[in-house]
Amino acid sequence: MNWTHDPVVVCPTCHGDLLPQDAHLHCVVCDHDWSVRGRTPLLFQAKRVGRRDRVMRRMYDVLSPVHDPITEHVLPHLQGDAPDAVLRRRMVEALDLDSLTVGDDGVAHILEVGVGGGALIPYIAEALPAGVPVCYWGLDLSSGMLRKCRARLPIDGVNVRLVQADAAALPFAENSMARVIHVGALGTFADPEHALFEMSRVARPGSRVVVVDEELDTARSNRLRHRIAFKLLTFNQSTPQAPIELLPYNAENVHSANLSRFFYLLSFDAPRGHA
Ligand SMILES: C[S@@+](CC[C@H](N)C(=O)[O-])C[C@H]1O[C@@H](n2cnc3c(N)ncnc32)[C@H](O)[C@@H]1O
Repeated sequence: MNWTHDPVVVCPTCHGDLLPQDAHLHCVVCDHDWSVRGRTPLLFQAKRVGRRDRVMRRMYDVLSPVHDPITEHVLPHLQGDAPDAVLRRRMVEALDLDSLTVGDDGVAHILEVGVGGGALIPYIAEALPAGVPVCYWGLDLSSGMLRKCRARLPIDGVNVRLVQADAAALPFAENSMARVIHVGALGTFADPEHALFEMSRVARPGSRVVVVDEELDTARSNRLRHRIAFKLLTFNQSTPQAPIELLPYNAENVHSANLSRFFYLLSFDAPRGHA
């Protein structure tokens, strides 16, 4: 098996420790065997994935060859806003990586939920403080998107590990992540409130969680073409907007603002006492 054990990664069902055994990761608590494909563990059970998430997984598998070029080259024109690189740097800035510190294991773990083709990772790499060992966990439910991300690796300056799993059942230990970021899918999740709870659960107390997803900036004058493009982009969401009301009740330093014409950026610090 092409997988090195890391105690940060746990069983997504019962949060028990996972031990490499033959071609599997074996959960010492519930006895489930999780398979590993190449270097990527498959830490989800298809039958437990919400119906909406299953549909989105198939959609992203199909979209994976064109997703990143569309985001980089087409979306900025549709939005009539800053280039993708500028928006990505703003997302990274919100993570406050200058204050990144290592955990008990001597590593600062950063999680991207819905890593997709990994377009954000080079921007993270350029902002990491020198001398802090970092492990960047890229989690996604779509194997097609993860293949695209794998093809991007290695990326100078950052150690990236990929995991196929569901945002609703993160296979990471409580309080293990120094930062968590999610870009672009929360509004389509079957249970966005639970996904936010999961991001908060795995984040170290007081550490920053950043969520970026669709919301039309109504303070700007939006032409018909902007409103049509936004409608098409969010065709499967009833109310595309920052879900402040879904955050864990004890989230700290909650801040929400428009990142661009089509996107909000919501940040909060994980509760210092988990519920
Ligand atoms: C719009 S893409 C953004 C990708 C990447 N974050 C970026 O900024 O380019 C959203 C990603 O979320 C993933 N995703 C959707 N639903 C998911 C779920 N329930 N669990 C994990 N990932 C999911 C999709 O497969 C897709 O790769």
